[in-house]
Parts: sequence; structure tokens; C-alpha cells
Amino acid sequence: MTKVRIGIVGSRFQADCIAASVRMMPDEAEVVAVASPTPGNAEAFARRHGIARFYTDYRELLRDPAIELVSITAPNRLHAQVTIDAARVGKHVVCEKPLCVTLEEADAMIDACTKAGVLLLYAEELFFAPKYVKAKQMADEGAFGRVHLVKQGEKHSGPHSGWFWDVEQSGGGALMDLGCHGIAFCWWFLGKPRVKSVYAQLSTQLHGARTQGDDEAVTIIEFENGALGIVENSWNRPGGMDDSIGYAVEKASSTTGWTYPVYEEHWNYGFPQEMRHFARCVRGKETPIADGETGRVVLEVLYAAYASAGLGRKVELPFRPQSVAKPIDLWKRRELAAR
Ligand SMILES: NC(=O)c1ccc[n+]([C@@H]2O[C@H](COP(=O)([O-])OP(=O)(O)OC[C@H]3O[C@@H](n4cnc5c(N)ncnc54)[C@H](O)[C@@H]3O)[C@@H](O)[C@H]2O)c1
Repeated sequence: MTKVRIGIVGSRFQADCIAASVRMMPDEAEVVAVASPTPGNAEAFARRHGIARFYTDYRELLRDPAIELVSITAPNRLHAQVTIDAARVGKHVVCEKPLCVTLEEADAMIDACTKAGVLLLYAEELFFAPKYVKAKQMADEGAFGRVHLVKQGEKHSGPHSGWFWDVEQSGGGALMDLGCHGIAFCWWFLGKPRVKSVYAQLSTQLHGARTQGDDEAVTIIEFENGALGIVENSWNRPGGMDDSIGYAVEKASSTTGWTYPVYEEHWNYGFPQEMRHFARCVRGKETPIADGETGRVVLEVLYAAYASAGLGRKVELPFRPQSVAKPIDLWKRRELAAR
């Protein structure tokens, strides 16, 4: 069978990661096109990664008949529109985290892909990261007895691109950016139980001049089976990403001096394995372990967490705030959360 032909929307941080990851496991997929609006960027990206075609408008990429799977690495506020446009022309979609900004968008994305008969795949690479896969395998085999507490943290010194800091474009701060990983991780690790309640403590400690967003977040998730997940996130940790293991990788301004060494960063985060799995799902060889519903579960927890921080108490799920433009509004305007 031929390799799954991927078109990437976006040409910067995560796009580089996806293109490099597909090249690391080239047996099932190949990147054949890229689209990015800044003149020259898509072309430079294509040249860097040996990609045949490049576009400035993602809708041109969607018209490319060769493309079967669209990988969305554009800012959060664009995820829903690009997904829906891709589904309408019969392309499968891999959407980066968070799935989108509003719960209404999440429903519309899932609906559009279901109606079009295409896959909506949610790019949570921690489900494929070897150290986490191994830990889950051990837990599932009973190595730790009944697991009643799972912790995951992601902390670094703050995002590389301006739009992350602008809550109108991102939807929230460190919790929205990094917490989606920990929320998904705890849920997955425990076997995807229903979420019962969420409590979160948020603050802006260092970056108040730059952002309305939270730069410190602690979230406690109570699951139906009685287990707890604790998710810690920060944009205030210098020295590179601390994902609770302590590698100096993403956002490391310097790796000279004392540091934990890292090898095969993409592999250790699970990106090549994730993209291979998604390509195999497109060919019907595997069943998605992270899809639009996964992204929606995470987004609902994010909304409940921001509401909890606004209200100063835990919030029960299901949680369905009406007509809220973005998660962080529930923290900043507690009257919205109280409705
Ligand atoms: N899974 C992970 O660990 C991980 C890591 C980083 C980023 N992400 C996610 O990936 C997405 C992109 O983040 P990033 O760090 O690459 O951001 P970035 O700012 O580095 O890159 C964003 C890219 O999107 C492009 N873009 C903007 N408007 C566009 C449009 N209308 N059409 C097409 N492209 C457009 C920009 O030109 C740029 O190339 C975000 O949703 C982010 O949360 C996930």
C-alpha cells in the first residue's frame, strides 16, 4: 500500500517537529506539501524538509488531490476552521493540542469529520512517549496495585511565539498551553474514566506585563473511580522543559553548564510513533487511541478548571458553559462561571 500523503498547515515550531518525525518513521507516511501565510516561509520549510509543494493559503493545500491527511500546526484559534474545511473536501485531520478554543467548535469539528467520513485525530504525543507507555503498561499489569493518584507536570520559561501570550488567540495561558497534556495523560493512564470534578488554582506570577494569561497552574481532577490526577504547569521555569523527568529540551535557552542530557528528543516525546499510528489509522490498520472525543474531554476539563479558579471551588462535570468565547474568560469574569 502507498504511504499516507500528509499536508502540513503551519511552518514553524510544531510543523518542524511533525515533518522531522514523519521522516524518522518513513514506512507509513510522507509529507508532500506545506501551507503557511507568511511569504517565503512555506517555501523555506519545504526546502528544509525536502517537501515537493508549498502554498501560502491552506485552502490551496486542501485542493491538492494528492493529500490524504492534513496536519494542523497553526495557532489554536484556527484549528476549528481548518479542520472543518479539510473534512468538507474529504481529508483526514490530525489536530494539534488543544483541539480548539470553544466546546461549540469541538462539537462542530467532530460533527464535520463524522459526516464527511474522515478521521479527526488528536495529537497527544504523551500517549506514545516510550517512558509513559512503559509506565502505563506496568500500571495495567498491576505493578503498582490500584492506581489512585497520577501526576503530570510540564513547565518551561514561556512560549516562543507571540500568539500564545495573547489570550484572544490562544484561549488561555500555561494551563491551556501545557495543561492539556497533563489532563489527557491522567485520563489515559487511568483507563479513560469519566471526569467527576475539577479544582484549579491559577495565577500570573511573572509575566503580568506581557499576558492576561495564567503563568502558574495547579489542577486537581477527580475521576469517577475515585482516583485523582494532579497537573502542574508553569511558564516560569528557566532551563528548558521540565516534564517531570527533567530533560533540558524544548525552551532550553542554554544547555551549557549542568543539565540533564537528552537524546532523540522527538522519539522520547513520542511524535514519530504518534504520526505512524495516525497514518496506520488512515489505512485502517489501527484504531485511533486519540481522537476528537479525546480532545473534547480535555477541553471540557480546561473549561471546568478555569471556572474553578474563577469561583474558588471545585466544578462538577459535565460542564457546559453557554456562549463563552474562551476558557480563560471563566477565570477573569467569574460571573460567567457562576451562570
Ligand atoms: N504537541 C506539542 O507538544 C505541541 C508543541 C508545540 C505546539 N503545539 C501546538 O501546535 C500549534 C502550533 O504551535 P507552534 O508552536 O508551531 O506555533 P508557531 O507560532 O511556532 O507556528 C504557527 C504556524 O502557524 C502559521 N499560521 C498562522 N496563521 C495561519 C493560517 N491562517 N494558515 C496557515 N498557517 C498559519 C504561522 O505562520 C506559523 O507557521 C498550536 O496549537 C500549539 O498549541 C503542540
